[in-house]
Amino acid sequence: MNKQALNEATNYIQEFAENAPVIGLILGSGLGVLAKEIEQPVKIQYDSIPNFPVSTVEGHAGQLVFGKLEGKQVVAMQGRFHFYEGYPLDAVTFPVRVMKQLGVKQLIVTNAAGGVNEEFEVGNLMLIQDHINNMNQNPLIGPNDETEGVRFPDLSNAYSKRMRTIAKDEAAGLNITLQEGVYVANTGPCYETPAEVKMIRKMGGDAVGMSTVPEVIVARHAGMEVLGLSCITNMAAGILPQPLSHEEVIETTERVREDFLTLVKRIVLTI
Ligand code: HPA
Repeated sequence: MNKQALNEATNYIQEFAENAPVIGLILGSGLGVLAKEIEQPVKIQYDSIPNFPVSTVEGHAGQLVFGKLEGKQVVAMQGRFHFYEGYPLDAVTFPVRVMKQLGVKQLIVTNAAGGVNEEFEVGNLMLIQDHINNMNQNPLIGPNDETEGVRFPDLSNAYSKRMRTIAKDEAAGLNITLQEGVYVANTGPCYETPAEVKMIRKMGGDAVGMSTVPEVIVARHAGMEVLGLSCITNMAAGILPQPLSHEEVIETTERVREDFLTLVKRIVLTI
């Protein structure tokens, strides 16, 4: 991690975003609509920020949105960076470091994921209870900056129990089905084979995707409290007799948009 690069990005952003954000939101594929709910938005395009990577994938707008959500100061990443795009993990997680420097204490990470647990249904939301890093990569490899966090971070409570309880209570109150399970991160960009999906189920995974884990590792290293939400956009390969496509992923996020928005806003209000 390059501290100077981090400071340049942070200083640039602070010229535009006057109020320090407390809550950070990372919005996954098709879930960027949440940023439209932010009041008095200040938008900063990724490509204008010094040292920021630039998003390439369809369905990702590529900007930071600052403002108020449910009365709280937030910053949302509308579009994230993926390892499969070719970025090294320190680039993928650079925005999380910037968020930390800006004052973010709590991070809500969202993604689109394939359902591995056969009890899940397409369109369910899943609270991430824990993850399995199946990327064979770790964003903390390299010299450790002790001012950022410890060399050997503890991930026993990576996804805050306190915030998970809040999310479950809010979902129940809103009558929104909220599954809970283990998110497995693969590199992508291929979807899995049916054999891989069986392996993921055997190793304890409930959902599979291509993001989130690097950002959460860095957020925990930096001492943030983390909540993760997956939108089960499709059943993972081999469960249903259908080909998987990015179009289906985006269609499902559009279908569950209202529940997703309502739940995340209530969580933001309460945490
Ligand atoms: N596999 C991996 N990533 C995904 C999937 C999937 O089935 N659906 C959405 N993101």
